[in-house]
Amino acid sequence: MALWGGRFSSETDKELTEFSESVSYDKRLYKYDILGSKTHARMLAAQGIIPLETAKSIADELDAIEKRIDAGDFEFKAELEDIHMHIENALIEKLGDEGARVHSARSRNDQVALDIRLYLRDVISAMVEGIKDFQRALVDQADKNGDAIMPGFTHLQHAQPVLFGHHMLAYVEMFARDIERLQDCRKRVNVMPLGSGALAGTTLPINREMVCEALGFERVTRNSMDAVADRDFAIEVLSALSIFAMHVSRLSDDLILWCSQEFSFVELSDEFCTGSSLMPQKKNPDIAELSRGKTARIYGSLMALLTLCKGLPLTYNRDMQEDKEPLFDAIDTVNRILRVYPPMVAGLEISRDRMLAAASDPALMATDLAEKLVELRVPFRTAHHRVGSFVKWCRENNKALHEATLEEMHQTIPEATPEFLKLFSPESSVAKREVTGATGPEAVAAQIAFWKQQLAEL
Ligand code: ARG
Repeated sequence: MALWGGRFSSETDKELTEFSESVSYDKRLYKYDILGSKTHARMLAAQGIIPLETAKSIADELDAIEKRIDAGDFEFKAELEDIHMHIENALIEKLGDEGARVHSARSRNDQVALDIRLYLRDVISAMVEGIKDFQRALVDQADKNGDAIMPGFTHLQHAQPVLFGHHMLAYVEMFARDIERLQDCRKRVNVMPLGSGALAGTTLPINREMVCEALGFERVTRNSMDAVADRDFAIEVLSALSIFAMHVSRLSDDLILWCSQEFSFVELSDEFCTGSSLMPQKKNPDIAELSRGKTARIYGSLMALLTLCKGLPLTYNRDMQEDKEPLFDAIDTVNRILRVYPPMVAGLEISRDRMLAAASDPALMATDLAEKLVELRVPFRTAHHRVGSFVKWCRENNKALHEATLEEMHQTIPEATPEFLKLFSPESSVAKREVTGATGPEAVAAQIAFWKQQLAEL
């Protein structure tokens, strides 16, 4: 019984340790934890809370610890729970009581909030650069294939001819908003929580502003309970990443359709595709499909954090340790997408002929006929009705729209002039759409010029 009991308790201990630890994933925060601790120690010394010599020894030893972790020469063990305990423990092992002074006026609650904020600031800045590269690849495609015409779709039905570049630039706009969203939430990430203590601040005479300035934060948090309790800044990042992933997923869907045999509008270069283990003819758009699939996972992370926080009483609760894995996973996933997707877009070959052929169905120019009638002062609703009747007549008489004679057209469109017969070319349809933001060649060239300037590397 005693033997069994003993075994049970040690097994349980191990289970509990492994259940509770976070170092296996939060170790990625080590550089930020060390930076935070060095700055904190310097401030403690400046305030006379610890001796200056101690702060110096702490900083030197933290540098040494950082080098050991960099070199993979640092042992992580579940018993020490998280990265904060590991680093503090290593410090105390070397410096004894001196090292034990670093945690004055600090709790892991404000420490972990600081580390995540420092980490996210860097993540956001790097990610913004990655999204800009993505935009550059799209702008280059738009530029390279400036005059390619394709059908634009609504309801996945042929709608009106558009320039291929116009379609690419639509994503450039979406990504620009994704960048704005990330930069905007970076403002709320960039607030300094250290000094909030466990939840109520500290009785020690710390100088939070000094830490804030040294770490380049915008300002210090105003409420210590808020500072340790909320993760809304991380949720915002996840929300911005989810929206970005949603955009990538839509682009993926376009590309997947376009490289299907039915469309054959584009060809992806071989290195971004795989074959089938069974069907020798297959070339699958895996990167696009996986990016679409991984979007689900990023949404999952957002949902996880929202759900994690929704029922938590103030302030810190251990539940919050569960914020990190979904956050890191979403960031890693987006970073992976950003590494593979832009080169795939850059290598895209388009089939102008296939696109133009699909855009050449004269039915796509039906709106142009209606707009011509508006130019002749026919009210748009009447115009729309007349052209609709014309399309119906053509269908009933087995004619494509451009095959009808002027006399035949007159049966449904009495105002039609000979000019109407020339409205059926996709080139001239596109060419007439030159209002700002439209798909005309000059309007699109203006968009390209705008983005080239915006994205120029200085
Ligand atoms: N590993 C913890 C986390 O990630 C650090 C904070 C622990 N705080 C505490 N009071 N146990 O949330």
